[in-house]
Amino acid sequence: MRSHTYYESMGAARIMAQIIDGKALAKEIKDELKTKIQSYINLGNRAPSLRCIIVGEDPASHTYVRNKIQAAIDVGIDATTLKYDATLSEDELIAAINSLNTDNNVDGILVQLPLPGKMDERKVCNTVAPEKDVDGFHITNVGQLCLDMPTFVPATALAVVEILKRYKIDTFGRNAVVVGRSKNVGMPIAMMLHSDGKHDSKLGMDATVTVCHRYTPAEQLEFFCRNADIIITATGVPKLIKATMIKPGATIIDVGITRITDEQGKTKLVGDVDYEEVSKIAGAITPVPGGVGPMTVAMLMHNTLQAAQRLARKN
Ligand code: GUN
Repeated sequence: MRSHTYYESMGAARIMAQIIDGKALAKEIKDELKTKIQSYINLGNRAPSLRCIIVGEDPASHTYVRNKIQAAIDVGIDATTLKYDATLSEDELIAAINSLNTDNNVDGILVQLPLPGKMDERKVCNTVAPEKDVDGFHITNVGQLCLDMPTFVPATALAVVEILKRYKIDTFGRNAVVVGRSKNVGMPIAMMLHSDGKHDSKLGMDATVTVCHRYTPAEQLEFFCRNADIIITATGVPKLIKATMIKPGATIIDVGITRITDEQGKTKLVGDVDYEEVSKIAGAITPVPGGVGPMTVAMLMHNTLQAAQRLARKN
């Protein structure tokens, strides 16, 4: 998989990074899931089911949920959205989640974040039954991840791990830097990267991990990044990761996604990485869009099948 493209630049032969095609990889994974789901149904099970709750009118959140529902339907998951307007109270939302928790025809529940107003997102995430928590946001699932136990891992973190595995990027004993410490992305990625590959969850990757964040001084961020074999960035700060910060041949996974307006007045999506310059030095790199994003949706489908299989075994 690691075929580099050589090209000439100012007389010197350089290596162009391998572009990690998240869209193609996501299709591969969804095709595999479609086959697995069909076999699961052929054994006499009903189709796995996913319920997405969305509160309010945030256009980006509605697009994300539509994409998740479409991907679910494409692989054979029974998926529907429960839409509520922003006037929904926290108690009403909790009642809606509880009714899905006790519905035997529901395997996976997802509450799209952010929630509007003053809702307590932690309380809402902890209301989803842990065995139906395909987002991996429930405190029990977070705890299990930190203890190397089998659990639901947040889809974005799982997407990063799956990219590294499928592109055969070695993590054992390597230096990895995670830029961003969010509880749903940076933290679970750092957790899996550093943990013991021999543990029950089989998610450990045995890397040496440094977590950088908004209070890491710029020169320290550069110092740690230059020493990294793998950089995973999830900050939402365009061009934070520059070519001068990259060790030649390093793997760069860009989880950031920001909508910007370019010089021509056109809006476009960009990641955290100065892609054009960094791709001339890195060994492998994910583009934005078309890198981690499509993989995240595919891994949510993976989690939903897991939820269905575990619940079917229990009942
Ligand atoms: N909002 C942004 N990312 C996510 C996600 O992965 N899950 C949910 N539920 N909401 C999100």
